[in-house]
This record gives sequence, structure tokens and C-alpha cells, in this order.
Amino acid sequence: MRVIVTNSYEEMSASAARIVAGQIYLKPNSILGLATGSTPEGMYNELIRVHKEVGLDFSQVISFNLDEYIGIKDSDPNSYHYFMNNKFFKHINIKKENIFIPNGNMQNIEQECKKYDALIEQKGGIDLQILGIGNNAHIGFNEPDVKFEAITHKVKLDEETIAANARFFASKDEVPQYAISMGIKTIMRSRRVILLANGKNKAQAIYNALYGPIRPATPASILQLHQDVTVILDKQAATLLPPV
Ligand code: F6R
Repeated sequence: MRVIVTNSYEEMSASAARIVAGQIYLKPNSILGLATGSTPEGMYNELIRVHKEVGLDFSQVISFNLDEYIGIKDSDPNSYHYFMNNKFFKHINIKKENIFIPNGNMQNIEQECKKYDALIEQKGGIDLQILGIGNNAHIGFNEPDVKFEAITHKVKLDEETIAANARFFASKDEVPQYAISMGIKTIMRSRRVILLANGKNKAQAIYNALYGPIRPATPASILQLHQDVTVILDKQAATLLPPV
């Protein structure tokens, strides 16, 4: 595991964007695993800038998002479909047919989950997976006490996650209770992983993920077993880490 501690959110974002851009430069048809949330927004902005100013080409890139709520429309501003399109996809030259996000509006969610993992495999597997981390150390929507063997599946969101995500909704009651998430196994199959975190409220989760025991109560701790993880933090998220 490589750990990069940066001075600010902007530096963290730029550092992550450089790795993603380098990946695409070396392999234009890279398969990216993407996250939503506040954490990667700066990285997406930087990638958009590099696309517009330097011509970073996304025309052959394929993307798979980590997760999506169950039961809200793609057009809902809180859906992850909407987030990705608005914050990233519509600003770059990725092809619509190369964008994959779990569909939380299917009748048969189980079948949708199975299809999602099969599709990732069929396309060749994820080259580079971007992750944020929850205050409870979730990755994707793999909440504490997740099964490390799980592939893409339906999850019941933790009360803590619902409370954290309520900031985007009119009230806590409007936050969906369920989501589809890539499983820990799906994430661990990615060839490279970047884990991003900023802000003091992520410091404990980062400490537990990097230095705590590897256990389902700390979903991100499984990353200690991955052969190619780069953790990029701002100073605040790194406050509990031992000095190097
Ligand atoms: C989002 C996702 C989540 C977030 C995590 C942190 O696709 O998979 O695991 O990365 O909840 O969210 P933010 O970045 O909003 O603090």
C-alpha cells in the first residue's frame, strides 16, 4: 500500500487525477471503476480540465460505477446516474455505450447484480478502481459486517450512512434505504485501486482501514490484502496515522 499525504483537498484531487490520466494515456481503452460522493468531485474536475486543455481522450474508456440507490429515478438529482452525468460524463468525450452504472429500478435486482459482475468480467475486468470511504469505513455501499466474498449485491444502508447522505436530500426520510453495490470481491478483483479521503471526519476510518485488523466490521480494511493500492489523503484525513 502506498500512502500519499497531501496538503489540501485540491492537491489530493490533482494527485488522483494524475494517476487516472496516466492510466488512460498508457491504455486508452482502460476500464475504470468510479465512485460518487463529495470526495472524488475535485478529481473529476481536474480530469475535465486535463481533457479540455490537454486533450486527455476518453473515447475508448469504459466505466463501471460502484453503486446506485434502489428506487429513485435516473433523472433524480440524487441518483448516482445524475451525479456522474452532471459532474463528469457530460464534460468529457466518453461514449454513452461505454458507461455502466447499476440500475436500481429493475424489477429483478438480483438478476441486475449478477449481470453487472458478468459484464465487468466480459469487458476484461477493472484496471483502476477509484474509492472513497464512509465514516464507518464502508467502500462502495459495503457496510460494516459485509461478507468479504460478496460480488455485486443489494444492500441495506446503515443508519450512519443514511444520516451522512441526508445532506443531499430534503430530509433524512427521503434517503433510500437500499442500494446496489459492487461487492468487496468485485472491488478486490480490480488491478489497481486508489482510495481517496479528505477531512477530519474520515481520519478514524482511514486509520482503521490501514492499521486496524482486517475484519468485516471495517470493510475498507480488506484493501490491506490488495497488491496495488494507492491511498491519497489530505492532511486532515491523515491526522491519526503514525508519522513515517
Ligand atoms: C459512492 C461510494 C461511497 C462513498 C463514501 C464517501 O459511490 O461508493 O462509498 O465513497 O460514502 O462519500 P463522500 O465522498 O461523499 O464522503
